[in-house]
Amino acid sequence: MADRAAPRIQIAPSILPADLARLGEEVEALEAAGCDRIQWDIMDGQFVPNITVGPDVVAAARRHTSLPFEAHLMTLTPELLAAEFVQAGCERLIVHAESVTHLHRSLDLVRAVGATAGVALAPATPAIAVRHVLDLVDLVLVMTVNPGFGGQDYLASMEPKVAEVRGMVQASGFAIDVEVDGGISAKTVGGVAAAGANVLVAGSALFHHPDGLGAAVAELRTLAEAAFPWLDA
Ligand code: DX5
Repeated sequence: MADRAAPRIQIAPSILPADLARLGEEVEALEAAGCDRIQWDIMDGQFVPNITVGPDVVAAARRHTSLPFEAHLMTLTPELLAAEFVQAGCERLIVHAESVTHLHRSLDLVRAVGATAGVALAPATPAIAVRHVLDLVDLVLVMTVNPGFGGQDYLASMEPKVAEVRGMVQASGFAIDVEVDGGISAKTVGGVAAAGANVLVAGSALFHHPDGLGAAVAELRTLAEAAFPWLDA
């Protein structure tokens, strides 16, 4: 892992609420709105009760933006298509700790196909589950909803877990981002950034903001930067 640079606030829109009939324009609009990266919610209908898109759709969007792509693999077989998602243009693959039997090996496999690895924790999974894989990842994702759908209510009860993960990351000395996903909006970003999240995934709050994507991204970033205590750590 790289040595730790001071973490920076990043806004990573979830593509789930996007109009898939106009996907190219939607990712172009996300880049124009000032987003830092794009998160693809990949769901298999098994690990979560919903099905979304595969590598071909990601590849189709790739040529419409220069933003980094990450795939949030809410699937029971994350290794199955790992190489294809990298080929499609994802530089980071995020594996759920709950979705595999041997998490250490799965993260190693993700790195072996040329991606950086992230690990995600569903709400019921304790922070300790990532203690022995911090040397393999550059991101820990703390879900602030149960994975599977957009537009759910934010789980404020996850804030202590965000703080615990941030503490583990700081103690590790590794350059690891702490990401949150689910119900992140202007109302909830302050609590979760103060707890230590520096990468904010949002879908509904960005796509459904009355003042449009640009205003939504700027508002979320400003509120997160005001609340996040480690900006120049
Ligand atoms: C849930 C997904 C979330 C969702 C975005 O499994 O991972 O990223 O699309 O959620 P909202 O709309 O709450 O920001």
